[in-house]
Amino acid sequence: MNTPLNNPSNDAPGGDTTAHPEVLTPREPTPVAASGSDMALPPARGNSDLRGQTPEDMDVPDDALLVVRGLKKYFPIRRGFFSRHVGDVKAVDGVSFFMRRGETLGLVGESGCGKTSAGRAILRMEEPTAGSVRFDGQDVLSLDRDNLRRLRRRAQYVFQDPYSSLNPRMTVGDTLREVLTVHRLASGAAVDARVGQLLEVVGLRAEHALRYPHEFSGGPRQRIGIARALAVEPELIICDEPVSALDVSVQAQVINLLRDLQDEFGLTYLFIAHDLSVVEHISDRVAVMYLGRIVEIADSRVLYSNPLMPYTQALLSAVPVAEPGRKHNRIVLQGDVPSPANPPSGCPFHPRCPHPLKDADCARIVPPLADKGGGHFAACIKVPLGSGGARGVPPTA
Ligand SMILES: Nc1ncnc2c1ncn2[C@@H]1O[C@H](COP(=O)(O)OP(=O)(O)OP(=O)(O)O)[C@@H](O)[C@H]1O
Ligand code: SF4
Ligand SMILES: [Mg+2]
Repeated sequence: MNTPLNNPSNDAPGGDTTAHPEVLTPREPTPVAASGSDMALPPARGNSDLRGQTPEDMDVPDDALLVVRGLKKYFPIRRGFFSRHVGDVKAVDGVSFFMRRGETLGLVGESGCGKTSAGRAILRMEEPTAGSVRFDGQDVLSLDRDNLRRLRRRAQYVFQDPYSSLNPRMTVGDTLREVLTVHRLASGAAVDARVGQLLEVVGLRAEHALRYPHEFSGGPRQRIGIARALAVEPELIICDEPVSALDVSVQAQVINLLRDLQDEFGLTYLFIAHDLSVVEHISDRVAVMYLGRIVEIADSRVLYSNPLMPYTQALLSAVPVAEPGRKHNRIVLQGDVPSPANPPSGCPFHPRCPHPLKDADCARIVPPLADKGGGHFAACIKVPLGSGGARGVPPTA
């Protein structure tokens, strides 16, 4: 695999910034972002060109269903008798991406990197601190209560543990009936027929409507969570670690179910996971998050065959390899993830980064999420332009 870690070429060959239809595309070269004490610096010797994509640069395809620009979610830290505001947990710190209709974007990163906060902020389950979210052209952040309710019908959220979001005192049928009647999607006898149909769509039986959530194990319970989401006939589903709590064999069943439902209903998924192996087979594209930011985003086959960010390489090195005899060097990251209340200066990954070219610039320069070639975006100043794209994989038609 030709990656910066095992091929630390330091040349910046100018880079192929050819527009790519699948991913974020910078329209014009833009200077590196500066924040706080981090200065916008000219390209230093040995660094790749410090051009990158900013939220304003994002070239959005016509069939984009969701467009997120510069999304921030800060949780205020308050101390003392007067609850003085002494700082913020920067859970999401300037995230931009889009999702085309019918695609699956995997959102991956270690625990606490802000995946759930991003997902919840997109649907305004938590009010974002800054940024913009457009769903099918609608400005989500300016919607009033009625319109937000309408949006929540079109964009659903599936939780890691559906048990905590299912009312334990309601049967599965009552839960689904409630959703259908609140959203006026069925009435009279049609409600029960629809409940049975929904349960069958997710691989359960109509008679399961009479049972309570605690009577189901993890996999079937997650199917109930998916049935509840499907009840409102959504276009987008944010699946927040929907299989993390399940046994591996059950994980595959739920992922297959999600894929089948996507084919059948043309659904768009934002699929959140902390493990790259989980999202590999369901995602069209994958975004890797670290400390509230997207640090790499690319088509799946590109990201898995040629991870550019040292962080992505480390995550990928932890994924078990099924092929016997294939060399697999595990990259063990030193130290813990820094606190999002006090993120490091410059590149947020610099205290843990194992890149052989890491230097003082890494602690000073905020790396832009730059197209390193072929629409493969990475936020690392030591990854040369032109090193993006798939490696060892024939291009798809
Ligand atoms: N309501 C809240 N108040 C204060 N801090 C919060 C709140 N919710 C999340 N955080 C903090 O924001 C950061 C991001 O949390 P978040 O739950 O979004 O991460 P995550 O990537 O989903 O993690 P996990 O993989 O464990 O689910 C963490 O430091 C977390 O402690
Ligand atoms: S610290 Fe950041 S910018 Fe520097 S080499 Fe590592 S990932 Fe790249
Ligand atoms: Mg989470």
